[in-house]
Amino acid sequence: MSLVQSLTNLAASLENCQGCELAQGRRHLVFGRGSPRARLMLIGEGPGADEDRLGQPFVGRAGQLLDKILAAAELPGDDTYICNVVKCRPPDNRLPNAAEVEACKPHLREQIRLIRPQLIVCLGALASQVLIGPQARITRDRGRWLQKGRMLIMPTFHPAALLRDESKKRPVWEDMQAVRDQYQALLRQEAGEPAGKTWPPTD
Ligand code: URA
Repeated sequence: MSLVQSLTNLAASLENCQGCELAQGRRHLVFGRGSPRARLMLIGEGPGADEDRLGQPFVGRAGQLLDKILAAAELPGDDTYICNVVKCRPPDNRLPNAAEVEACKPHLREQIRLIRPQLIVCLGALASQVLIGPQARITRDRGRWLQKGRMLIMPTFHPAALLRDESKKRPVWEDMQAVRDQYQALLRQEAGEPAGKTWPPTD
């Protein structure tokens, strides 16, 4: 089965998911958007009202800001995949609780296994703790790469946090420039060119 088919099948298998209580309030299960072969994956918390309505992740205000940041950092949209830790909207935009995260984790794990991104950016504390571990602290760890197998993972602030707090814009911009540098180093390495920056990075 092709990768695209496997990902489509996974999404289809979740359409009627009743794995946690969030199923009751959803309009759409929000699986993910972007290239199934993306080198770069961005992972948020869970769908908001706009995402629930449209069935696509990061299409509301925070998503529009995220798209602008990616474009400004010259990270190509056709080589990214965007999804969330939980696929259904938590009521009143609250954070998903531990049971909801646990119920949805296997689906995120499977998405990552199929897409095999080389770079993952965790948007906010929840995604960082799910991807890196409960010890992850967004304010302390943002901007730092962590290697896990063949993947490099970086936490940064969630775009919704930038909408609330302008002072987070600069750190996120610096983080995204670091993501762009690694992305370009990866392309150079794939092309057999001198790495310039090493891949995987040593620091
Ligand atoms: N916030 C998230 O974490 N994910 C979305 O899809 C939208 C807003």
